[in-house]
Amino acid sequence: MAINFYDSIPSLFLLWLKKKQYRIKIKITVHVADFNNEDIIMKIIVTGGAGFIGSNFIFYEMKAHPEDTIICIDSLTYAGNLSTLEPVMKNDHFRFYRTDIRDRDAIYRIFEDEKPDIVVNFAAESHVDRSIENPTIFLETNIIGTSVLMDACRKYGIRRYHQVSTDEVYGDLPLDRPDLFFHEDTPIHTSSPYSTSKASADLLVMAYHRTYGLPVTISRCSNNYGPYQFPEKLIPLMIANALADKPLPVYGEGKNVRDWLYVEDHCKAIDLIIRKAGDGETYNIGGHNEMANIDIVKLICDYLDKPYSLIKHVEDRKGHDQRYAIDPTKIHNDLGWLPETKFADGIKKTIQWYLDNKKWWEDIISGDYMNYYEKMYGNRKVLS
Ligand code: NAD
Ligand code: TYD
Repeated sequence: MAINFYDSIPSLFLLWLKKKQYRIKIKITVHVADFNNEDIIMKIIVTGGAGFIGSNFIFYEMKAHPEDTIICIDSLTYAGNLSTLEPVMKNDHFRFYRTDIRDRDAIYRIFEDEKPDIVVNFAAESHVDRSIENPTIFLETNIIGTSVLMDACRKYGIRRYHQVSTDEVYGDLPLDRPDLFFHEDTPIHTSSPYSTSKASADLLVMAYHRTYGLPVTISRCSNNYGPYQFPEKLIPLMIANALADKPLPVYGEGKNVRDWLYVEDHCKAIDLIIRKAGDGETYNIGGHNEMANIDIVKLICDYLDKPYSLIKHVEDRKGHDQRYAIDPTKIHNDLGWLPETKFADGIKKTIQWYLDNKKWWEDIISGDYMNYYEKMYGNRKVLS
């Protein structure tokens, strides 16, 4: 049967249109890939992954995105505990480097070998009381370490550098103004050497974005609680002491207020930011869970059936911040994030975790965890 040229015009046109659409589709895909890290298999460097939030983040990511590969960089300071990462150590999608983020040569070597897509920087000196005793290491790790990581990102290229920061960069709010909250544009106004070092790092991150066009994001989260928190911070310290019937040292009157967030909710927020947020954005993360310290300590006593007589009011922390309170509206509106764990449930889960995992924190208190690396990895080949 002969085909009339004019009869075939509509189908030729359709074919042309289809091809055009196909081309348009390809174009759109490339465009989206440039601005969106969702649905892409990625290699993610997580610094400070042997610490509290970093380890929880690694567990969260490896479950939520098993196709991605996590490269953990941690120098294992007193706060890093490699035994925490034992469940993922043999996973093909996980590698561990015992490296200091201040060590430029070693960091560059890792970037050269691993070619990461994303860096999430949790590594930091994180305890306010220690910063009051010895600020220098806070400046070195939290500021210089951050700049080394970002220099590596500039040199080797990166899709996203994410800085894990804190609400403490905003200073504090008065106790008698419950209507006030920290917003992303609240001026930076720090109190302790710790918060000052974190604020300095944030400023540096924004400077690298503006000066070098580095694709960065920052998150500023309120106080976290949950599994694997080092027992020098309020909640695990009080649980450990209460279980041993030791005094519970409350600073001053215990009226200072913190805005508590379950650690997994923090991890979910960071996961959303690194995959969906635009370059140069800063997000506050918090769950509107404000509690006075003394009420938390009493709650822990109640749960463990311990008397309040264990509570001892001790000399206040120098420069003690009164109240932290986050307004998380921006991350909710932009990325749809909402905290999922209510404080009443989260604190029960946390206390239960410390009851079920006594060896983890007893080894810390006895100092045994420090020998773990040598025992498990002393004779193994070091990756860098
Ligand atoms: P953490 O002290 O439990 O862990 C810090 C980890 O960083 C440790 O594993 C430590 O070994 C590692 N580290 C320290 N110095 C290093 C260096 N020079 N090189 C490589 N690794 C190094 O801290 P965390 O509570 O998990 O906090 C993680 C991050 O989150 C920090 O940046 C902190 O400022 C921020 N943050 C914490 C909270 C909180 O409530 N804990 C709240 C908001 C923000
Ligand atoms: P902390 O867990 O050190 O976190 P941050 O200082 O970063 O908020 O302390 C939480 C609050 O608990 C803070 O107001 C200080 C107070 N605190 C005590 O009262 N006693 C303690 O032994 C500790 C460690 C903290």
